[in-house]
Amino acid sequence: MPAKKIQQRLTIAVFYHIPAFFMVLFFLITPTPSFGTPDNEEIREDIRKFQKFFQNRFPTVKLETYQDGVNGLPQYSHRIKNWKLLSSVPIHIREIRGMEKDWEQSFVDGSSLATCFSDKPPGNQYPYFNGTSIRTIVGDINDCLSIHSEQALNANGAKMAKLVAFYKSKANGQPVSIDYSSPMIRDAYQKGRQYYWTRRGQRNFSCASCHVQNSGNQIRSDVISAALGQSTGFPVYRTAWALQGQPWRTIHRRYASCHMQAGAVPPLPQSAEYIALQVYQGIMNTGIPLKVPGRRQ
Ligand code: HEC
Repeated sequence: MPAKKIQQRLTIAVFYHIPAFFMVLFFLITPTPSFGTPDNEEIREDIRKFQKFFQNRFPTVKLETYQDGVNGLPQYSHRIKNWKLLSSVPIHIREIRGMEKDWEQSFVDGSSLATCFSDKPPGNQYPYFNGTSIRTIVGDINDCLSIHSEQALNANGAKMAKLVAFYKSKANGQPVSIDYSSPMIRDAYQKGRQYYWTRRGQRNFSCASCHVQNSGNQIRSDVISAALGQSTGFPVYRTAWALQGQPWRTIHRRYASCHMQAGAVPPLPQSAEYIALQVYQGIMNTGIPLKVPGRRQ
């Protein structure tokens, strides 16, 4: 075949066929508007399609690698050495191990966070429905403190982030597994899904505009992580934030920063909106092992 013809075919493939392929995939996983609460079967199918989309987009990335956020993507490989170097200096791990004494420390009435959590599910099964409401680890820590007449913590503060990381880290390596058999969780899933895919703010972006459609693409100096895996490494320790004196972020604080990037006013930490988002993300991450605390650059 003449060189010119080959070049023409390549141009057609790069500019038409490849983008068209991803567009079709994108529409396949975009949730169709649904008015009712999805059933178990619909959720299972959603998980399958969502994970398959990223498998096709990043064929060399294994499911478990999504726990590392953007560091796991080939588009970020130019910075991977730096990340490995940072991860090999385990300040973040040491800080979390240091939380054990806070976890075990007795309150005035003799109880402790450890006693409150003795009947709670492991970190890879949060958020969960306890028969009355949907619980996050942050919510359960603050409930425990209040019930035992202790001062509640700032839901997005560094101490809370480290306590959550301490508890979640006990389940490191366990695959995310959220029980969606209750209608309350399935209803939150539906709200979280709607939220993730709805455009908002001055820039009219949805979470998916960046983390699905543009995952792996560059925005300013950042590469955008995939929606898949988001929250499995949280709370995280990020060097860029350490330089500003606040290296720790809870997942709701991260949601809020992203919200502001889209030019929208963020909901409050532990609001129904953010808990729903966390339920949706958790369910999409089914099967990815926890790796807490995550390290970010
Ligand atoms: C304008 C693009 C943009 C939008 C819109 C956006 N994000 Fe982000 N998000 C980023 C960038 C850039 C980062 C930092 C690099 C990275 O980790 O993806 C990030 C990081 C994150 C992370 C941290 C990932 C990790 O493992 O460290 C989470 C979680 C996240 N975003 C969730 C959301 C949610 C939820 C929404 C919608 C409310 C949202 N984002 C909307 C660009 C965006």
